[in-house]
Amino acid sequence: MNKPTLAEKTRGDFPLISEYSNIDNNLIYFDHAATSQKPKKVLQTIENYYSRTNANVHRGAHQLSAMATEAFEEARQITAEFIGAKNSREIVFTRNATEAINLVAHSWGNSTIKAGDEILLTIMEHHSNLVPWQLLSQRTNCVLKHIGITDNGELDIADLKSKLTNKTKLISLVHISNTLGCCNPIQEVASLAKQVDALVLVDACQSLAHQKIDLNKLDIDFLVGSAHKFCGPTGIGFLWGKEKILEIMPPFLGGGEMIEEAFLEYSTWGDLPHKFEAGTPAIGEAIAMGSAIQYIQNLGLKNIHQWEKILTQHLFENLQCIPDIKILGPTPKQQNNRGALATFSVKGLHSNDISEILDTKGICIRSGHHCCQPLHRYYGLNSTARASLSFTSTIQEINLFSEALSETIGFLKSNS
Ligand SMILES: Cc1ncc(COP(=O)(O)O)c(C=O)c1O
Repeated sequence: MNKPTLAEKTRGDFPLISEYSNIDNNLIYFDHAATSQKPKKVLQTIENYYSRTNANVHRGAHQLSAMATEAFEEARQITAEFIGAKNSREIVFTRNATEAINLVAHSWGNSTIKAGDEILLTIMEHHSNLVPWQLLSQRTNCVLKHIGITDNGELDIADLKSKLTNKTKLISLVHISNTLGCCNPIQEVASLAKQVDALVLVDACQSLAHQKIDLNKLDIDFLVGSAHKFCGPTGIGFLWGKEKILEIMPPFLGGGEMIEEAFLEYSTWGDLPHKFEAGTPAIGEAIAMGSAIQYIQNLGLKNIHQWEKILTQHLFENLQCIPDIKILGPTPKQQNNRGALATFSVKGLHSNDISEILDTKGICIRSGHHCCQPLHRYYGLNSTARASLSFTSTIQEINLFSEALSETIGFLKSNS
């Protein structure tokens, strides 16, 4: 008998995947890049927290508050170990990755960046890694430069080299693109950045649930993630920053929890990471993020990556057989470690029509610009369709999706 696949082992853990059916069809959820589904373990953690441990953290003199604080700080430790951070003081809880990038752009950016300084981004960035820097540029008159992509849809390292100067203070880039699916060579980028003493921020939103990140092997300065992309709840994410950089950065938001002492005219700041965590945090959500990380670690990111590579290869083979489909980003042959998603356009058809018809068949894919409007503009496209997978996805689901997609395209073409 064949060994069970990772999907067979895990699908039962996800109520929405294993129990939900869309009228006559089983649900095929291929929108994991937008948000992942949540395993029972995470749902139970949330329920347990609110039914047994709910209290505010770092404040109460009572036992319940001490229990909540302990679980909250344990989640910080779990997050630190997940990415190989040296110290949990380097993990700042935020609402999501977007807030984490805004934190850096405000705190580090406002205090460090001057007119004429340069920040290097890429044309494949999610809006959350573009707009905060545009706002910083409006505040400081710093210059934003954008690294292009190759014909395959991979980061153009030659272009990066040509745009890197002694004025470059930061390279902020995505690890795995949510649209192209390409996996960027972070250590190579970091080595180049260090030649001009620039910092590196990595947006790991699309990698944390799919590939191992080990900060001990990456010479970077900041990394951001959102729990809802890696089996955790919404409303919680994190910023990791090198301790010595976070130490000298001023607070982002002011209020309770983040002060050492408050006076009427001024205040002094608490220690890391509390200096950056003003107000009551998302306590239950942070604890559940820890639980999501443990779930993923139990499966093993190596196993996840191996299974998703098989799935991605199969998805590409199927899509490449459908006429008039253009897939963005490198193929698995061109880039072996690319992300488990395929973004595509179909000549003469709108991606919304495709996704709406697929939805009637119980298949969820994303349609639009995926918060990468500049990248779509570069390709001369308004919108694309995107199928994004996870370790719970199966070969059979990919086949059903591909057949349904072929039929849908045929139907729309015959009616246009
Ligand atoms: C690559 C990438 N970066 C950033 C984000 C923003 O994540 P959030 O909305 O959770 O802050 C996303 C979400 O789609 C993403 O895919």
